[in-house]
Amino acid sequence: MMRRYLALFSLGFFVNCHSASYMVVTEQNDATEVGRQVLAKGGNAIDAAVAVGYALAVVNPCCGNIGGGGFMLIHLANGKNTFLNFRERAPLAAKETMYFENPERSVSGYLAVGVPGTVLGLDTALKEYGTWSRQAVMQPAIDLANNGYHVTARDAKLFAQYASDLAADQNVAAIFLKSGKPYAPNTLLVQKDLAATLRLIANQGPKAFYEGPIAKRIVAASQKQGGILSLNDFKQYQVRELPPLQCAYHGLTIFTAPPPSSGGVVLCEMLTILENFPLSALGYNTTQGVKTIVETMRYGFLDRNSLGDPDFVKNPIKRLLSKSYTKMLADRISKTQEAPSVSEQSQVPELTDTTHYSIVDGKGNAVAVTYTLNGEFGARVIAGNTGFFLNNEMNDFTLKPGVPNKFGLVQNKANAVAAGKRPLSSMTPTIILQNKQLRFVLGSPGGPRIITAVLLTLINRLDYHMSLQQAINAPRYHYQVLPNTVFTEPDAFPFFTRLGLRHFGYTLYPQSTWAAVEGIEIDPVTHKVTGANDKRRTAGSALGAD
Ligand code: DON
Repeated sequence: MMRRYLALFSLGFFVNCHSASYMVVTEQNDATEVGRQVLAKGGNAIDAAVAVGYALAVVNPCCGNIGGGGFMLIHLANGKNTFLNFRERAPLAAKETMYFENPERSVSGYLAVGVPGTVLGLDTALKEYGTWSRQAVMQPAIDLANNGYHVTARDAKLFAQYASDLAADQNVAAIFLKSGKPYAPNTLLVQKDLAATLRLIANQGPKAFYEGPIAKRIVAASQKQGGILSLNDFKQYQVRELPPLQCAYHGLTIFTAPPPSSGGVVLCEMLTILENFPLSALGYNTTQGVKTIVETMRYGFLDRNSLGDPDFVKNPIKRLLSKSYTKMLADRISKTQEAPSVSEQSQVPELTDTTHYSIVDGKGNAVAVTYTLNGEFGARVIAGNTGFFLNNEMNDFTLKPGVPNKFGLVQNKANAVAAGKRPLSSMTPTIILQNKQLRFVLGSPGGPRIITAVLLTLINRLDYHMSLQQAINAPRYHYQVLPNTVFTEPDAFPFFTRLGLRHFGYTLYPQSTWAAVEGIEIDPVTHKVTGANDKRRTAGSALGAD
C-alpha cells in the first residue's frame, strides 16, 4: 500500500515539476497539426518550428513563406535564449534614392523584392538546435503541397480581394486562380511547383535556394522584369544569430526581438514607461487608462524612428530603455492635458501577409516565430516554376524622407535603403520567463500594429488579470503618431471612454479587426500549458497534450 502511495506520489511530483505538456499555436490548423505531430513523435520545439514554418508556406499562402523572411526567438531548456535574424536584405545594387521618384516600386514587381531569408533561417535553426533531419521536418509540407490542402475562408477572401493583382502575373494566376477565378473556401489547392521546390531544398539543402536552380530562376525572372537581384545577392545572404533584447515588466523577464526589428525596443520602451503607472487602479478601458497607454504608444513610435539595421547604424537602445529616460516620458505623460497636435495624414488599413506561431515542447524548449512576405501577397510575383511568392519587404525601408510607406510609417535616415541592409521591422516574437521558468510565448502579424497588439495582450493579462485567451481576444487600439489617429477595433471602448478621449483631443478611427496574437502560457504553479489562438483567425488552432 505504502509503495503504491509512494509510486503515485512520485508520479504526481514528476508530472508537476517536469510536465511533459506541449503546445503548438498557429493561425492555420493543418500547420498546427504538423507541429503537434512532430512533438508527439519526440521532436523538440525547434524541429516543430521548422516543420510548421515550411507547412505554413503551403497552407497559409498569404503569410507563411519561403520567399520572405523573419525572426525566430528560441528559449532552450538549458537556459540559453537566442534570436535568429533571417530578415530579407536589400540587393547589393540597391541605392538610398531608388524609390525617390516612384515609391510604388517598393510595393509590387521585382524592384520591391528583398533577398529572402526564410530557407536559410529555418535550416540554421534546425542545424543548430533541432534534432530531426531536414527531410523529416519538410515532408509534411511537401505532402500538403503535393496532395493539396483545403482553402480556408480567409484564404478565399484574400484571393477574391486581390484577384486582379493575382491575375497580373501569369505564374501567380496559374497557381492561385482556378480557371481565372479565385478559389472558393474548402476547395483543394494543389501546389505541384511548390512541392518540387520544397523537395529540392529537402534534398540539397539551402544551397539549392541560394546557389542552385532556385536562385537562378529568381534572378532570371528579376532581370527580365526590371529587378536588380543578382546571383551574388543570394550567395552572400547570411542569417545572423543575435542575443535577444531583454527587459523586465512586473518582475517578469522579457526576451524579444532586437534590431533590425523595432518591435522589441518599442515594446520594452512602452512597458518600461507603463511600469510608472498604476494601470489596474486606473481601470480597464477608462479614459485615463487608455489615454496613458495611447500617450505611451506615442513615445514608443516617435523613438522607433531612430532605429535601423544594427549592421549599418548604432541604435540608441540603452538610452531608450533607461529608467531615467522612460521616467522622464512617464512624467510628461502624466502632465499631458490634451493630445499634442500632429499634422493629419491619410488613414492606413492593416495589411495581411505576416504570420506568427508559438511552440512549447515537453522538454523545456520554446520557440516564437514571426515571418512575412510583408503585404498583399508580397511583390505579387512568382519566378518561373518556383511556385512561391516573393516578398515586397523593400517597402519597410524609408522610401523617401517624409513619404509614408504602406503602413503609414513616416521614417527616418536610420532606416534608409542601402546595399545589403535589412529594412526595419515591427515583428515582435516574444518569450517571457518568471524566475527563470518559461511563462509566456507570443507574437503577432499586423505591421506596426504588431507591437501594440503584443503590448495590449500583456497589459490585459498582467495588469487587468484576464486569461490569456481573453487578453488576446479583447478589442485593440493602435496609435503610431502618423497618421494622428487612434485606430480602434469594433467595440473597443465604452461610450464614456470615447467621449473622454475625444474631449482630450484624440481622433478615434474605427476599423475592422487586425493582428492575430498566437500565444502560450505556462502556469508557474501547476506548470499547466495553455495555448490561445486569436479568435480573429478562425482557421487557427492551439493543439497540445497534457
Ligand atoms: O516586418 C514588418 O514589420 C512588416 N513587414 C510586417 C508586415 C505585416 O505584419 C503585415 N501583416 N499582417
